[in-house]
Amino acid sequence: MSIMMKATRLLLTLALLHGGVPAVQAQKPSLEIALTLDVPVNGVSTTPSGRIFLLYARVDGSQGPQVVEYNATSNITTPIPSAEWNSFNASSPSSSSDPATHLIRTNSQRIGPDGALWLVDVGSPSFGAPVIFPDGPKLVQFNLTTNQVQRTYFLGNVTRVNSLLDDVRFNPLTGVAYLTDAGSPGLIVLDLKSGFAVRVLDDHPSTRRGDFPVSGEGTLMHGPDGAYLYVYADHHELSPSGQYYYFQPANGGLSRIESRWLDAALYNSSLNSNAVLGAYVEPFALTPSTGGTAIDADGNIYCSDTDRLAVEKIAPNGTRETLVQDDRLLWVDAMWIDAEGKLWMPAAQLNRGIPFNNGTNRVVKPLHVFTLDIGVGPSPIDHA
Ligand SMILES: *[C@@H]1O[C@H](CO)[C@@H](O)[C@H](O)[C@H]1NC(C)=O
Ligand SMILES: *[C@@H]1O[C@H](CO)[C@@H](O)[C@H](O)[C@H]1NC(C)=O
Ligand SMILES: *[C@@H]1O[C@H](CO)[C@@H](O)[C@H](O)[C@H]1NC(C)=O
Ligand SMILES: *[C@@H]1O[C@H](CO)[C@@H](O)[C@H](O)[C@H]1NC(C)=O
Ligand SMILES: *[C@@H]1O[C@H](CO)[C@@H](O)[C@H](O)[C@H]1NC(C)=O
Ligand SMILES: *[C@@H]1O[C@H](CO)[C@@H](O)[C@H](O)[C@H]1NC(C)=O
Ligand SMILES: *[C@@H]1O[C@H](CO)[C@@H](O)[C@H](O)[C@H]1NC(C)=O
Ligand SMILES: *[C@@H]1O[C@H](CO)[C@@H](O)[C@H](O)[C@H]1NC(C)=O
Repeated sequence: MSIMMKATRLLLTLALLHGGVPAVQAQKPSLEIALTLDVPVNGVSTTPSGRIFLLYARVDGSQGPQVVEYNATSNITTPIPSAEWNSFNASSPSSSSDPATHLIRTNSQRIGPDGALWLVDVGSPSFGAPVIFPDGPKLVQFNLTTNQVQRTYFLGNVTRVNSLLDDVRFNPLTGVAYLTDAGSPGLIVLDLKSGFAVRVLDDHPSTRRGDFPVSGEGTLMHGPDGAYLYVYADHHELSPSGQYYYFQPANGGLSRIESRWLDAALYNSSLNSNAVLGAYVEPFALTPSTGGTAIDADGNIYCSDTDRLAVEKIAPNGTRETLVQDDRLLWVDAMWIDAEGKLWMPAAQLNRGIPFNNGTNRVVKPLHVFTLDIGVGPSPIDHA
């Protein structure tokens, strides 16, 4: 029995007891544990048919594939796109395999509006390590019918040695993909048909705005070099109508721009300057330090709060409210809304990982992916 059904039954029972007038509000849906894991997972995506894909963060020093399909019934994981794609040896990148056909370090994965699984490869072997050019930074499209790589977009021309190719969203109405660069602050607009891409809002205050470092569990974080950790343009969403593109650095402060200006910048270099394009950027919501976001069919954005161990819901008018707070929501990273209206929240504990704790692993096992019934499905232009 679903939580909603239980809540409805409770309400009915109370209504009967009180002569037809409900005495209390229906109970809020509660957190459920969807997956129990040994390795931090910072991305989950699901298909309407029930396939589940996971991205392992490996900040705990564990070894193995980066992206897998997970069968929760058999507890068997299958490397995606293949074991070979996942065999790149980060400890000795020079003697390793061809960066064009291997995952160097995958930072996000998601099923797109085309039903394919898309992988974003930073192209640098470890956090803070230089990007491998030209073929390290890339976007890989994996066809879920053929279970084969369908196309790879190489993004070496629009990234830099300190880039951190972070995440991708799609605009199926215009055939464009948007990517965030969290290492060298900026956005990338990619024409999916031609493969042509440009950087926009490069080092603009809206993509940089790391006035404060990233924070987790109430503490400012440090990177592998011991300095305060700044993670630039990171989380982003496209509104269900395609009109607005929302984006923010990991320490928070959500901006938006009408996506038509980003799309126009692809082929209009007069528009593609911070002075011209930057004028179309507007502040949207004063979000906290965040691990990941998701957007629903009504245009509400879900945004994790890595300090308060909570998830906020931001209405299309920019108003924020707390959806759920629970001390188990330890660094909720990229979220996912499935076809049944459940919000998937991987509690990845990234802030406890080796790169952010002076070489010490503070991740506590087991780790969990939680779900919460939000009663609304994903944005239809985001995924099915
Ligand atoms: C998961 O494994 C079970 C048992 O081995 C199998 O019956 C089922 O088809 C698998 N599911 C998927 C989605 O592969
Ligand atoms: C699933 O597999 C993992 C890795 O092989 C193992 O650590 C874990 O205990 C298994 N979980 C269950 C419920 O069998
Ligand atoms: C990766 O490279 C390192 C350094 O050369 C080596 O010690 C290690 O065995 C390699 N790992 C694998 C899985 O091949
Ligand atoms: C995946 O492959 C199938 C079979 O070749 C094809 O019909 C489908 O269009 C492909 N999907 C995408 C997203 O291109
Ligand atoms: C990168 O730029 C070079 C030089 O303009 C061009 O030859 C190459 O095709 C570009 N690569 C990609 C992947 O767009
Ligand atoms: C390109 O952008 C500039 C600056 O916004 C604008 O004045 C011009 O009309 C645009 N050109 C086209 C062909 O849209
Ligand atoms: C914004 O939207 C929320 C949710 O629909 C609503 O509760 C709130 O009153 C709205 N605020 C303003 C200022 O319009
Ligand atoms: C990090 O560890 C090194 C030794 O491994 C030590 O010298 C240094 O002081 C530590 N830094 C911090 C910020 O704890």
